[in-house]
Amino acid sequence: LAHGGAPSGLAGRRVLISAGGTREPIDPVRFIGNRSSGRQGYALAATALARGAEVVLVSANVGLPDPAGADVRRVGSAQELREAVLAERAKADVIVMAAAVADFRPVSSAEGKIKKTGAGPAPIELVENPDILLEISGERARAGQVVVGFAAETDHVLEYGRAKLARKGCDLLVVNQVGGGRAFGTEDNQAMVLGADGSATEIPNGPKEDLADRVWDLVEPRLAPGHT
Ligand code: CTP
Ligand code: CA
Repeated sequence: LAHGGAPSGLAGRRVLISAGGTREPIDPVRFIGNRSSGRQGYALAATALARGAEVVLVSANVGLPDPAGADVRRVGSAQELREAVLAERAKADVIVMAAAVADFRPVSSAEGKIKKTGAGPAPIELVENPDILLEISGERARAGQVVVGFAAETDHVLEYGRAKLARKGCDLLVVNQVGGGRAFGTEDNQAMVLGADGSATEIPNGPKEDLADRVWDLVEPRLAPGHT
C-alpha cells in the first residue's frame, strides 16, 4: 500500500491501449496512412506494465518490439481497430486511445491493383470512419471506467483541446502541440492534459515514457475503488 493506505494505482487493473496509425486500403498494395510511430502508445503500455497493470495493446502498423507482458492485437485499418477495441472494452478499467485513427477511408478498396490508363488518375472517394473514442466515452462498458483520448493540434491548443474534450466526452485528453518537427516521429513529447473536471496539467518536453507516467499519475486517482 502506498501513502495513506490508498491501493497502489494501476496494480491489477486492466488497461486497454490503442497505438500506432491506421492504414485505409486503396487497393491491395496502397493505403492512406499517417506518420504515427506508435511510440507513445507503446510507452504507455510499458509504463502501465511496470505499475502492475494487465495490458491489452491494440497495435496498428507499429514497427516496434512488443512490450514484454503485453497482450498485443495487431490491426490494420480503422474499422479493424474499432472491432478490436470494442471486443476488449468491457473488461477494461482504463482505455487509452493513443492511436492515430484515420478520419476518412476510401469508399471501397479496388480488388486489383489500380493501373495507369493514360487518361489521368481517377479520384478516390472517401467516407468518414466511426469515431471510436466518442463511442466508448458516450456509453461506458463498465461503471467507473476511465477513458483517455489524445489529440494533436497545430494551433489554439487549449481552446481546441477543451472543445474536443467536451465533444468526445472522455475523462482526460492529452493534447500535443504538433508542427515544426514536434511529436510525430520524434523521441520526445510535450503535452497539456485536460480533465473533464476542468483541470489542466502541463507536461514538460521529455521522453515519451515520462509523459506516459504523468498520464498514469492522472488516471490513478480517477479509477473506481479497487478490487484487490
Ligand atoms: N479517434 C477515434 N476515432 C476516430 C478518430 C479519432 O477514436 N475515427 C480518437 C483518437 O484516437 C484520439 C482522439 O480521437 O484519441 C482525438 O483524435 P483527433 O484526430 O484529434 O480528433 P478528431 O475528432 O478526429 O478531430 P480532428 O478533426 O481535429 O482530426
Ligand atoms: Ca482526426
